[in-house]
Amino acid sequence: MSSILSIKNLEKTFVSTGEKLTVLSDLNLEVEEGKKIVILGESGSGKSTLLNIIGGIDSITAGSVIAGTEKSGKWKVSELREKELCEYRSRFLGLVFQFHYLLKDFTALENVCMPALIAGVPEKIAREKAEQLLQDTGVYERKNHLPSELSGGERQRVAVARALINDPSLILADEPTGNLDPANAGVISGLLFNMVEKYNKTLLLVTHDMKIAENGDEIYRILGGKLAKENGGK
Ligand SMILES: Nc1ncnc2c1ncn2[C@@H]1O[C@H](COP(=O)(O)OP(=O)(O)OP(=O)(O)O)[C@@H](O)[C@H]1O
Ligand SMILES: [Mg+2]
Repeated sequence: MSSILSIKNLEKTFVSTGEKLTVLSDLNLEVEEGKKIVILGESGSGKSTLLNIIGGIDSITAGSVIAGTEKSGKWKVSELREKELCEYRSRFLGLVFQFHYLLKDFTALENVCMPALIAGVPEKIAREKAEQLLQDTGVYERKNHLPSELSGGERQRVAVARALINDPSLILADEPTGNLDPANAGVISGLLFNMVEKYNKTLLLVTHDMKIAENGDEIYRILGGKLAKENGGK
């Protein structure tokens, strides 16, 4: 198994109005391709900050973050310029958040197609891929509905389909079921794990829910700015 993500001695300090807040400190993480990694931690412990750094959304204070495989090539995430960052995000990453961020004036199908069209995939191919993913996530029958016409769980199913459209290697999911009731959260997270398995992806998932965490291959907790390995998982 080869490495897909390598984080070394990562430090993240926020400075606002002269106050310094070190959220992540000397954090290390190695992820092998194909693994499902779950990250737990108290509110404010730095989970979203970590995912935002891997996603190239937040800068780092020290250390290094290298993402990619032999096949995709490696990106030194903390040093990418805007153009490389766009390519890294569109070719390598799939993102799912707590809030679905679907475009409200576009149907489910159009929302799923969008990242592929932006990446230059011809419309017919994008549409076929999107329809397959909507089948997989169980919302194909709702493909012509607007986000406002879908339930919370259905919107997250569409968001999962959209995250996979560009065939990303690494899926970053920040509390993707945080807005759902426990039963729905279990169903949607199960679906996400199944999709990651089916399409051979690597997953980094943040959750508060121990039951969901148990589906991971490896479970970590952010404690004092570092990752501590937890027992459990598969
Ligand atoms: N842009 C910012 N400027 C200053 N401080 C920030 C910024 N973003 C996050 N923080 C602080 O960093 C800490 C970690 O935030 P983060 O959002 O990563 O926590 P989290 O573990 O995701 O929490 P939650 O479970 O509530 O989502 C918090 O104390 C937060 O206030
Ligand atoms: Mg968070």
